[in-house]
Amino acid sequence: MARTIAALRQTVSGWKRQGFTVGFVPTMGALHEGHLALVREAGQRADRVIASVFVNPTQFAAHEDLGSYPRQEARDAELLAGAGCALMYAPAVEEMYPADATTTISVGAPAEALEGAARPHMFGGVALVVAKLLNQVQPDVAVFGEKDYQQLIVIKRLVRDLDIPVEIVGSPTIRDGHGLALSSRNAYLSEDQLEVARRLNGVLAEAGARVATGAALPAVEAEAREALLHAGFSHVDYVAVRRADDLTEFEGGSVDAPARVLAAAWVGKTRLIDNLPV
Ligand code: PAF
Repeated sequence: MARTIAALRQTVSGWKRQGFTVGFVPTMGALHEGHLALVREAGQRADRVIASVFVNPTQFAAHEDLGSYPRQEARDAELLAGAGCALMYAPAVEEMYPADATTTISVGAPAEALEGAARPHMFGGVALVVAKLLNQVQPDVAVFGEKDYQQLIVIKRLVRDLDIPVEIVGSPTIRDGHGLALSSRNAYLSEDQLEVARRLNGVLAEAGARVATGAALPAVEAEAREALLHAGFSHVDYVAVRRADDLTEFEGGSVDAPARVLAAAWVGKTRLIDNLPV
């Protein structure tokens, strides 16, 4: 395990001297099968895989769950080793953010709608920590889950706009036997809430099927929102059908390019997101 940028760089430069390529999977820990699939994907694409475990304070708002976010570092280390990760990088907050650090990153349009509208602070924090992690690790390839689809789009834009020399790969969402996207936050759900949460994917699949038959997008989005409330979700932040490549809206309300249907909804105090290709 590496705790410091210096220790990380020493290992990585040793690998590079030996001609090994490096794959990277950034995480906030509390690992599940979804993260391990990203590690395996990185292992298919590079000779050595590094995973970071860092609960990034700059992407949480003051009222969010930074303090209670699940932390289980020893278990994470074991799971990563089992999935073929060669090095876990788990820096302290002070290592990542010196007290006098002042630089921020604003990605602009791709970060503003959907998740960005519901959680305005979030993508600035994600972009900052991911830019720092990519500079620290200097991987050839980095793998991100499609579960956080907008995050993947934001990071692709960040890397292109800042000329960061890394290939960004999106990896399909891993689901439980009922279609629920695996998420560290699923740990917050009671049995009853899990039943509700498991409807999210089905509602999105129905919406996608309606889009494929040519139904008008505002109607599909409104129906899906109603279906989620009916299924027991307490609040729906958004259901939206967007262009898959940049998440902009379809003008004229009909789909003429690859699309993605995305949603965020609350079960009690837990906020869940999911998305599917249309
Ligand atoms: O997806 C996550 O777990 C986080 O947003 C990431 C990419 C590790 C940055 O903190």
